[in-house]
Amino acid sequence: AKPVKIALLGCGTVGTEVVRLLGEQAADLTARVGAPLELVGVAVRRPGRTRDTGIDPGLFTSDAMGLVQRDDVDVVIEVVGGIEPARTWLLEALKRGKGVVTANKALLAEDGAALHDAAAEAGADLFYEASVAGAIPLLRPLRESLHGDRVTRITGIVNGTTNFILSAMDATGASFTEALEEATALGYAEADPTADVEGFDAAAKAAILASLGFHSRVTAADVYREGITEVTATDVASAKGMGSTIKLLCIAERTGDAVTVRVHPAMIPRTHPLASVGDAFNAVFVEAEAAGQLMFYGRGAGGAPTASAVLGDLVAVARNRLSGARAPSESAYAKLTARPIGEV
Ligand code: HSE
Repeated sequence: AKPVKIALLGCGTVGTEVVRLLGEQAADLTARVGAPLELVGVAVRRPGRTRDTGIDPGLFTSDAMGLVQRDDVDVVIEVVGGIEPARTWLLEALKRGKGVVTANKALLAEDGAALHDAAAEAGADLFYEASVAGAIPLLRPLRESLHGDRVTRITGIVNGTTNFILSAMDATGASFTEALEEATALGYAEADPTADVEGFDAAAKAAILASLGFHSRVTAADVYREGITEVTATDVASAKGMGSTIKLLCIAERTGDAVTVRVHPAMIPRTHPLASVGDAFNAVFVEAEAAGQLMFYGRGAGGAPTASAVLGDLVAVARNRLSGARAPSESAYAKLTARPIGEV
């Protein structure tokens, strides 16, 4: 069969791992898709920079839009992050009927509706498993496997950095600042950890989970958000004294015809399965009327785990292109409204 041609936007930690897996697993991927997957271009800010990626230097370009607009490109993978210019690139790709795979939680949480509408209009696939909880298969189950059921509540630990910090505070009695320093030294926390410790990262992920779980349109701005910067060693010690531990939770609930979504530190009993989620792991509890309680657990960040989710999406999109099938369209969703939590 003719190869499925792929454009990669971004070649940082995740992009590099995506390319590595594409090469390493080429034979298996070809067998699974039914055609070879061929990387035809990699858009980066500085194409001339020396990279230890094994990628043919001739594939690099700084012209992401030009790459997206190439007629021979079938699938665009975006691992740049941020709202713009990623939104413009992906809307253009979808408009041209190309399949899109993205890890961009900020974009999905702010303007997922526009992307879904563009995908529906063009009859193109839009997959973003890597945008929430890294390697954990979570969005596909919400989007597909649970479609015969009614999800009532999603509770989870969706930020690895803050979970590492809170787990360290719990284990050693360290202060927030000390635990954050350790997270930074170990490479968990970013140079600027604001998005993690203030809960913005978790809020974006919560918006995506609520949108898919409740077939609604929830944006990051609809999510009540409180980070962990005010959690003290004393708070952690008193929680401990009560047989509990403190976790940064995202909680999304269906309340009648509305959805409420919040992210804040919460005390949970040590007997609760989420209490034992340590280190930088993620875990998400999904409650559905017929299925009951489901728990998803695994690595929520890192190059290889995130690339695993990207590759899974890529195989699905590539297969659909060959068979003429399409993923479920979120555009058809009934639009439940997100209600500010004060109004519950
Ligand atoms: N900063 C995020 C985390 C990375 O700590 O979970 C994955 O989205």
